[in-house]
Amino acid sequence: MTAFKTKEEIEMIHEAGRLVSDCHHEIRKLIKPGVSTREIDDFVEQYLKKNGATPEQKGYQGYRHATCASINDVVCHGIPSSSKLKEGNIVTIDFVVNLNGWLADSAWSYPVGKIDEKAQDLLQTTEEALYKGIEQAKVGNRIGHIAHAIERFATEKGFSVVKDFLGHGIGREMHEPPIVPHYGPIEQGPELKEGMVITIEPMLNCGSHFVYVEEDGWTAKTVDGQLSAHYEHTIAITKKGPIILTNQYR
Ligand code: MF3
Ligand code: CO
Repeated sequence: MTAFKTKEEIEMIHEAGRLVSDCHHEIRKLIKPGVSTREIDDFVEQYLKKNGATPEQKGYQGYRHATCASINDVVCHGIPSSSKLKEGNIVTIDFVVNLNGWLADSAWSYPVGKIDEKAQDLLQTTEEALYKGIEQAKVGNRIGHIAHAIERFATEKGFSVVKDFLGHGIGREMHEPPIVPHYGPIEQGPELKEGMVITIEPMLNCGSHFVYVEEDGWTAKTVDGQLSAHYEHTIAITKKGPIILTNQYR
């Protein structure tokens, strides 16, 4: 059952969301050739601690880190490691903050140094696809409006949309109903109502949409080894339209 949130509850999630976006601002400055994703993970954990929050992903279904760090053909759920980022890589940092029992979730893909045109195009298109979805997140639309807008935009630009990972409701739990696909027909899913809080988090691939999960049980990669990007916001559905609770540009 979808848990509808009151204005006060949405404000609590927004507080967690501001911390997520402020932390992303710091991450952006940290990302350079030679930095390891473990160093970024440590930074995020310390940053949250300093701000009275905790990393919700740590301990979640046996996951042991504050962040997921997904490089190049890793689609999502990459495990932070000591290997260093290289010039030309793209890397997605994804994490969920728990502030006073309320959660906010945002993933962002970053260039490492100078990246080639194809990678640049993928990053820009995936970010834009997220905003195409957010535009549709209004009362009276269905989940399918979000899904369809993202898929249409992405495929027109020549990218594929990952089908195996979905957005989700969020609040006191990381994953609440409803599920939020980023592809498929307009008619699918429940109608959007005031007080819903969901993530929209398209993952776009340069090649095929197919992914597989590595032996570690987490790392999801594109089957063809081509690049993948991932942008995610936590959104509140309100009468006045969608509110981005993890907005970095505010
Ligand atoms: N932020 C992710 C999500 O949207 C990460 C979940 S996987 C985890 O669901 F185990 F690492 F937390
Ligand atoms: Co998420």
